[in-house]
Amino acid sequence: MIKKDWTNTLLSSPFMKTMADNLNRSISKTDPRTTPLYREIITHLRDDGTVIDIGAGVGRFAIPLAQEGFSVTAVEPNKEMLKHLLGSIGQNGLTSRINVIQSSWPVDKDLQADVTFASFVIQFSRDPENFIHSMEKCTNKRCILSIHVDPPLGFLKDIWQVFRPSEPVPAMLTFSALYPMLLNLGIIANVAIIEEKRMSESVMEPARIIPLLSELLSIRDKPADMQRLKEILENMRSRIQEPPSMRTAIVSWQPRR
Ligand SMILES: C[S@@+](CC[C@H](N)C(=O)[O-])C[C@H]1O[C@@H](n2cnc3c(N)ncnc32)[C@H](O)[C@@H]1O
Repeated sequence: MIKKDWTNTLLSSPFMKTMADNLNRSISKTDPRTTPLYREIITHLRDDGTVIDIGAGVGRFAIPLAQEGFSVTAVEPNKEMLKHLLGSIGQNGLTSRINVIQSSWPVDKDLQADVTFASFVIQFSRDPENFIHSMEKCTNKRCILSIHVDPPLGFLKDIWQVFRPSEPVPAMLTFSALYPMLLNLGIIANVAIIEEKRMSESVMEPARIIPLLSELLSIRDKPADMQRLKEILENMRSRIQEPPSMRTAIVSWQPRR
């Protein structure tokens, strides 16, 4: 139940606008083509390759992959992200190369591609095993996941205990839980751990995360709790500013078919 709250709240929250802005900023700072994930994707593609980008966001990878000549299916459920993604596809004249599906993964369609990847998406899934299983079903050559090694929002634990002491803290899936899950499914994946700069240092400003946290904690209509949350966040200001770099795992395997 908590997991469901976490996913729904995040995906429908104004925080997605911040996330979209950050992804756009990240593209302007770092060419996605130079990233280890992009290099891993294209290693498994020939000239006429096909790719499924699960949770494509603003198109950080879908756009350059299509520009490279690959056929891309971009799956994205969030309206805010879709607005940016569709705008970028239009501006770059890529409508014939990118097929956009407005949906969460798994999709209710029979898709096939050489490579299927999801960059920082599986942690939002309510059923990660099914997410992985569905990736394998539609992939011919390679399944690839990017996932956090260092848990984001680590400070949430202490805040959660103040407002919801009897309920478990919503936990985001990170690499340490994903890899055993893959092993349990019989998947032995290659892993590369990389250190990445944070997309933006300003995301974790108290004012920016209050709407998301108050929604998660269900205290939006409780002025006294809202005030308390503000004070706690101010006191934690230095703790909630995440380190300038965090580790990411790129997990890649050949699907069993
Ligand atoms: C952190 S963003 C990453 C975007 C993009 N993959 C990138 O790395 O630039 C996560 C994205 O996953 C999408 N998402 C969340 N849950 C999803 C699901 N079950 N299926 C597909 N996309 C999902 C969100 O809407 C959001 O666009």
